[in-house]
Amino acid sequence: MAPRMSNRVLMCEPEYFDVVDVKNEFMRTNVGSVDRVAAAAQWAALRDAFEHNGIAVELVPPVAGCEDMVFTANPCFNGRRANGEPVCVPSRMAFPSRYREVEAHREWFASHGYTIVELPQEVTRCEGGGDAVWHPGRSLIWAGVGQRTERRAHDALAAIFGVQVLSLELADPRFYHLDTCFCALDERTALIYPGGFTEDGLRLIRGMFDDVIAVDEEEARNSFTCNAAAFEGGTVVLQRGAARTAEQLRRRGYTVVEVETGEFMKSGGSVFCMKAALY
Ligand code: ARG
Repeated sequence: MAPRMSNRVLMCEPEYFDVVDVKNEFMRTNVGSVDRVAAAAQWAALRDAFEHNGIAVELVPPVAGCEDMVFTANPCFNGRRANGEPVCVPSRMAFPSRYREVEAHREWFASHGYTIVELPQEVTRCEGGGDAVWHPGRSLIWAGVGQRTERRAHDALAAIFGVQVLSLELADPRFYHLDTCFCALDERTALIYPGGFTEDGLRLIRGMFDDVIAVDEEEARNSFTCNAAAFEGGTVVLQRGAARTAEQLRRRGYTVVEVETGEFMKSGGSVFCMKAALY
């Protein structure tokens, strides 16, 4: 079954959200700087923005001490097998401080009808939907190789779902998850930061999408523009402040919904990774 675009997402309230250590370069200057009240308001506004645009929001309860759990894209990868069976693959997080998020997500998915399929023992790094995304409308997964996910995780996902996985090497350490430099907007269109990829990767992307919208470095870094969330019907939710990309999207007919995720960008994440698309 080719995965259509999802119109249902899983979020986690930022009750325990904080920047307590440095897991990526965005966190480096932000330890201890989170404004909890602002974070709660931004998260609630993002949830409202999803719901007002027809996206159903499910919630996984936050766990005390899991300061990154608001980034629900990472602890699992989910999808459907060819026979329609919903499957959840729990992640192998690169940082021990995120291990407990995986347990909570495994439980949520198991109690919501998903078959849980564990990665083989030898896979030590795989950060779920942050580094692996379905190509909208095709039985095909795009996956990043880099700091958080290793190539043998791609082979495992290919075997679990019975589909091809196209691997993209993440070339710039600042763009540490695939979702920081790549966003599939629909079957034929992708939004990317070209500097995040090798020449081979760019060739692969340009070969599979008819229209590849390039985001410049300033917007990709400062507004997390590629960390956008795209939904059926052409709605794209993204961090505000990326005027050039927003204009490119509007010109192509997308409905651009701008939100503020500044408190979460301090931790290295924005719209895309603050939800897991549910299939
Ligand atoms: N602080 C989190 C980490 O470094 C941010 C994760 C953002 N997730 C993403 N898919 N980009 O793990």
